[in-house]
Amino acid sequence: MDALVVTGGRRLTGQVKVSGAKNAALPIMAASILADGPLVLKGVPDLRDIRTMGRLLGKLGVSAERKRGGTMVLKSPSRSNRSRAPYEIMKTMRAGICVLGPLMARRGRAEVSLPGGCAIGDRPVDLHLKGLRALGARLEIEHGYIIGSCRRLRGAEMYLGGPFGSSVTGTANVLMAAVLADGTTVIDCAACEPEVQDLARVLEKMGARIAGIGSPRLVVEGVDHLGGCEHTVIPDRIEAGTFLVAGAATRGDVTVEGARWNDLFGLVNTLREVGAEAERCDGAIRVCARRRLRSIDVTTLPFPGFPTDLQAQMMAALTTADGISVVTEKIFPDRFMHVAELGRMGARIRKQASAAVVHGTEQLSGAPVMASDLRASAALVIAALMARGKTTISRVYHLDRGYEHLEKKLRRLGATIRRVNLKS
Ligand code: EPZ
Repeated sequence: MDALVVTGGRRLTGQVKVSGAKNAALPIMAASILADGPLVLKGVPDLRDIRTMGRLLGKLGVSAERKRGGTMVLKSPSRSNRSRAPYEIMKTMRAGICVLGPLMARRGRAEVSLPGGCAIGDRPVDLHLKGLRALGARLEIEHGYIIGSCRRLRGAEMYLGGPFGSSVTGTANVLMAAVLADGTTVIDCAACEPEVQDLARVLEKMGARIAGIGSPRLVVEGVDHLGGCEHTVIPDRIEAGTFLVAGAATRGDVTVEGARWNDLFGLVNTLREVGAEAERCDGAIRVCARRRLRSIDVTTLPFPGFPTDLQAQMMAALTTADGISVVTEKIFPDRFMHVAELGRMGARIRKQASAAVVHGTEQLSGAPVMASDLRASAALVIAALMARGKTTISRVYHLDRGYEHLEKKLRRLGATIRRVNLKS
């Protein structure tokens, strides 16, 4: 099993280029089921989750061929009744649920296993089912599978808000079904995340008619047919944000090329409040921290709020800030797996319900720690970069799900980090 060995204490400096967004690419890949022609995607990161989605689409008769330089060509057969998304694949990746909407819209049937994914708490799919049922899909849960059938879906008006706000993949799923439905669909309390916007833009290129992209009210005029198209996936705001936080946390000076200011303003604002300088450069964001960070209260919220996918990384940075910070999680109230591992490195964090109180300490010290989920792993890497001495992070396969060439990129910024194989 691979582990990362980091010797901390060095400021990160220099430039790094962000990859294409995993969470945009995954639903867009699923959208290929809807298209009559090939979908040519550029900027697709080479990650484990992307390969898993490719395998899942393969089971559904879609070919996903990776070409050179991040291009992927996806072709769905014009007629197919393959509709089973098996547990063996779905258990490893939450985003697999995104095939449900396209299967219902295009093939009128689906047998999709309930998904797995990161250990970040309860992750229901009731909003996905509510939206698809509103469009006329019959959906039952049997033996761990969502069994669906329908004739042509019908446009409908629906409210897709849940106890924690909108749902990103829920909106994506229902949107992908609505574009081929008969008539008008209104999705209220739709997710506004840049990844949902990117999916909507691809669907438009395929011939879909969608108004309100980027707003919480999407209005879709169903069409009879969608064709192929070419699209470049947006840059990964969470990867970019991870490098920006790492730059600030190590009191470094890091420029993230490709990072989009408007996608990351919630983070930029937070970095400024903790005392780092953050500026928009030509197609990039630069962060520079000259002194110890200040404590702050951070609350995660749906876009454009502070993203839950950067909560763990920001908490790592706050472990050595001057003063007491409160980090409150409003999207996944149990997403605090990193707290105990950060504690092994000397962080002083007390978890209280869906918040964590962080008492800033002067310095962390390296320790053996274990990655538990994707973003928690990124937090451990940041903590290791800040810490005195050596940290060994095991179970890095979590990181490989979502960060392309992480060690290489960090090394370019001056980090001392290497991958080793721990014989277990
Ligand atoms: C997406 O997950 C992302 N995954 C997650 O990124 C991200 O953390 C999350 O959105 C929030 O931004 C992908 O895009 C593949 P949600 P998703 O449905 O769509 C509740 C990462 O690290 N909810 O927006 O599954 C849910 O429990 C991953 O890359 C319902 O109540 O998240 C949560 O509290 C981890 N009912 C809130 O909504 C539902 O039917 C938001 O979840 C669906 C969700």
